[in-house]
Amino acid sequence: MSLAELIPSYLHWVEAEMRALLTAPTAASQGHYAIMQYHMGWLGPDLKPTQAPAGKRVRPLLCLLACAAAGGDPGQAAPAAAGLELLHNFSLLHDDIEDASPTRRGRATAWILFGMPKACNAGDGMFSLAHMAFYRLLDRGMREELVLAALKRFSAMCVHLTEGQYLDMSFEQRTDVSVDEYFEMIAGKTGALLAVASEIGALLANAPAATVAAYHRFGAALGRAFQLRDDILGIWGNEEVTGKSAASDILSKKKSLPVLYGLTDSRVGPELRARYAGPSFTAADVPAVLALLDIAGARDYVQEQVRIASAEARRALAEVAATAVAAPHAALAELLDALIEREQ
Ligand code: IPE
Ligand code: IPE
Ligand code: MG
Ligand code: MG
Repeated sequence: MSLAELIPSYLHWVEAEMRALLTAPTAASQGHYAIMQYHMGWLGPDLKPTQAPAGKRVRPLLCLLACAAAGGDPGQAAPAAAGLELLHNFSLLHDDIEDASPTRRGRATAWILFGMPKACNAGDGMFSLAHMAFYRLLDRGMREELVLAALKRFSAMCVHLTEGQYLDMSFEQRTDVSVDEYFEMIAGKTGALLAVASEIGALLANAPAATVAAYHRFGAALGRAFQLRDDILGIWGNEEVTGKSAASDILSKKKSLPVLYGLTDSRVGPELRARYAGPSFTAADVPAVLALLDIAGARDYVQEQVRIASAEARRALAEVAATAVAAPHAALAELLDALIEREQ
């Protein structure tokens, strides 16, 4: 079965888990859950049921494909996949506040609609429910040791993600960020969750430690490629397709890799540095920054880095090929290929 054939049943299980977790237990808490449900695309701004864009579901797919490829039962692992997607959505709720982003998945962000205090609290709720999801593995007959081992990796990943987010924000005020520091930052903010999604899939399949470690490396390299591609889309992406404001990475002086590359370019570096060291950007500054990045060839450089990271991911996947179940293993390679070319 191909990736396209596996996706519907996998996502059906994950959606069912997430809907069960995000159901308000009392009438009094309805409003709190409604903010989470709005963010998930299940409710409109009027808090009536709708079907808005809900994201690509990359992390749960990665988890369930890794589980199946490592010989496990993806249906049994579905609660963990739901937990990973909820954790991702928690991080987006908070990230949109941290980045002052007005738009996500083509709609107003939760903090714009409901205010920062309640959106922040909805994120906290989702963070906690993401952990609760893992206990549902026990109801599916998953062994306690495996659940505990998965939760330990999951919690450590949450810490790593916040370290990455801290670096991402603190780099906004700096113009001397190195490429090594950049890779450390994205390994936290994005790589940690994708690495653990893949790793937990293999772990819940009860795969040997060396196999679990290879799946971790696969997810980490895929995460690097994914974030590098996101950096490109964050500057040159089509807003209608990404559902996110294209200028916001530049406006907030994010040190994404295209910008770091431009800052070290001998032709445009000095001017770009002067601009980044100057006062806050307004929309009027964006075209000049874009022109400098184009002269430097920043886009081609970063896409080449995407290729390098994806080749590393492919090598990690090749390490487990001999023991993997063929169809989901091939689907993982397909997922990687789709993500490095993505426009959304
Ligand atoms: C956005 O992640 C944040 C990053 C880590 C780049 P996704 O691009 O996976 O977001 P959705 O869930 O598909 O909207
Ligand atoms: C990605 O953040 C990582 C997390 C949300 C934890 P970004 O700020 O780079 O992603 P977008 O562009 O807002 O989706
Ligand atoms: Mg952001
Ligand atoms: Mg961010």
